[in-house]
Amino acid sequence: MRKNRKLMSLAVFFFFVGNLAAFLPYQEAYWQEVHRDVPYVPSPYEVVEEMLRLAQPKPGDILYDLGCGDGRIVVEAARRGIKAVGIDIDPERIAESWENARQAGVTNLVEFRQGDLFKADIHDASIVTLYLLTYVNLKLRPKLLSELKPGTRVVSHNYAMDTWRPDQTTTVVVNDSVHTVYFWIIPANLTGIWTWTMPLKDRKIDCRLEVDQHFQYFQGKLFVGRDTVVIDETKLEGPKVNFTALLANRDQKMNLNFSGQVEGDRITGTIIVKANNNEEKIPWRASRDPKTKRPLDAGEES
Ligand SMILES: C[S@@+](CC[C@H](N)C(=O)[O-])C[C@H]1O[C@@H](n2cnc3c(N)ncnc32)[C@H](O)[C@@H]1O
Repeated sequence: MRKNRKLMSLAVFFFFVGNLAAFLPYQEAYWQEVHRDVPYVPSPYEVVEEMLRLAQPKPGDILYDLGCGDGRIVVEAARRGIKAVGIDIDPERIAESWENARQAGVTNLVEFRQGDLFKADIHDASIVTLYLLTYVNLKLRPKLLSELKPGTRVVSHNYAMDTWRPDQTTTVVVNDSVHTVYFWIIPANLTGIWTWTMPLKDRKIDCRLEVDQHFQYFQGKLFVGRDTVVIDETKLEGPKVNFTALLANRDQKMNLNFSGQVEGDRITGTIIVKANNNEEKIPWRASRDPKTKRPLDAGEES
């Protein structure tokens, strides 16, 4: 009888020790301080509305809210019929987000991931929303510009991106306080040296374009055969590039109007050549020496 009781106590002891060992890592994780780069403050719904109005979600879009809080931006995007992903470092926020998505009946369109926004895989986003702080936005800027597809819309509540000027800025007044909403379109990276040949008057002329870029703004020097021209009316919107060049020498005066689509190290588009009251449309296929490409944001403040 005494032997049985002893065996029983040993079994109870090992049962608890075993369970405690399994439980300890969770306890530790629970008590570990969650490292937030930004405290939790939800965007008022009026601001969420304005952020989505600027982003213009349409079928096929995928929205990422980096630091999603209670998931309200993600849920509102899903209510508009698009897929949306929320990332937050705080497990409590993630649980709250799932509950809010469940109540809104949109769990089929959303995903919430607990983790660090700086380490998140965001390459498939076509809209990114932020309510962080300026220094956090600046730390994130190289990741946005190198990982997001050209044309991706980025919207930020109250905090800008320093020298990366927004494409649009609006304000919303909520309970007498003014909230600013910033909007950017991720530009294609055009930096470096592009070359192509251009058929002109039965000749094939070698062309070279050397580009300097500052976010969505660029300038360049164009070499057409032996002539050098500075390009004008430059415009870059996501992957779409446009510029003009006036070629004037002893033999000819010609207006060149370039428009194309940038895809990695290739541009495909058209050149409209205007000379002597004639207009001709020719294909434009340029390629870049990849070695000449530079990052749009090297990380240090530019
Ligand atoms: C100001 S709240 C914004 C919440 C939501 N986006 C909104 O606009 O209502 C910032 C959120 O970022 C989260 N956060 C802070 N640092 C983070 C990090 N490094 N990675 C992921 N989330 C983070 C916080 O937990 C918080 O929920």
